[in-house]
Amino acid sequence: MSNTTNTLRSTRESWGSVTRTLHWLSAIVIIGLLTHGWWMTHLAAREVRQWNYATHALIAVYFALLLALRIVWRLSEKTPHQPTGTAAWETGAAHAAHLALYLLLLCMAFTGYMMWSSLPTRLDANPARAANWDLRWLGFIKVPAFHAVPTRDVTKYWEAWHEFISHFLQVLVVVHIAAALWHHYFKRDTVLRRMGRGGV
Ligand code: HEM
Ligand code: HEM
Repeated sequence: MSNTTNTLRSTRESWGSVTRTLHWLSAIVIIGLLTHGWWMTHLAAREVRQWNYATHALIAVYFALLLALRIVWRLSEKTPHQPTGTAAWETGAAHAAHLALYLLLLCMAFTGYMMWSSLPTRLDANPARAANWDLRWLGFIKVPAFHAVPTRDVTKYWEAWHEFISHFLQVLVVVHIAAALWHHYFKRDTVLRRMGRGGV
């Protein structure tokens, strides 16, 4: 039963609908980027890799905007208190894990962008290959590149960071989901419900 109003902005009791929408939309995109990203680099056939890398990069540059929006919105809000009965260490661990999730996501977007920006094939003499790497928001706003002269060594450097950081993100996402389920099924508190339907 709801005992507080379901609002657009978050309250001290529950998350607002904007935060909840941003959370679940980002969760779907991130789980998609992580699984598809792993698949395309490990299992995809050689011929389709280039297309998949370019599609991954395009989705990710939209995701970067969503992430920026989410962070700005989050900074503008007051956030719910932990439910009564939450130990201080749990609150501390939750804050640290959430901060780490935001930082890892920013690092993934940054290293992915730097990798794309330094790709020599971005300026390939073959227009079909180069066009594949031309990233545009809404089809016409060109994503600016950081590296004027792309080089393979630099791409390799950012690629290694992108992959390395993705492992920490994968682990933390699993821990995060486990924590949410633990709250719901074992502690039986409002933590999952207030991120779900809100207004609990
Ligand atoms: C923001 C969230 C992002 C997530 C969660 C993500 C996730 C991943 C993952 C899991 C991989 C596979 C790593 C491996 O095991 O080798 C990958 C590879 C890749 N990502 Fe991302 N990525 C993100 C952003 C970006 C961005 C912004 C770009 C480019 C603009 C990008 C371009 C690429 C490319 C080109 C590869 C293939 C790397 C290779 O050659 O091995 N990613 N990404
Ligand atoms: C890739 C997937 C996900 C990411 C990156 C993510 C990220 C986050 C972040 C950063 C927060 C903190 C909100 C804030 O304080 O600003 C949060 C909260 C939350 N997430 Fe996720 N999330 C993901 C998936 C999930 C899933 C699948 C579940 C449920 C099974 C879930 C359940 C929750 C809950 C219940 C909260 C609220 C915690 C509280 O009230 O203190 N998340 N998530």
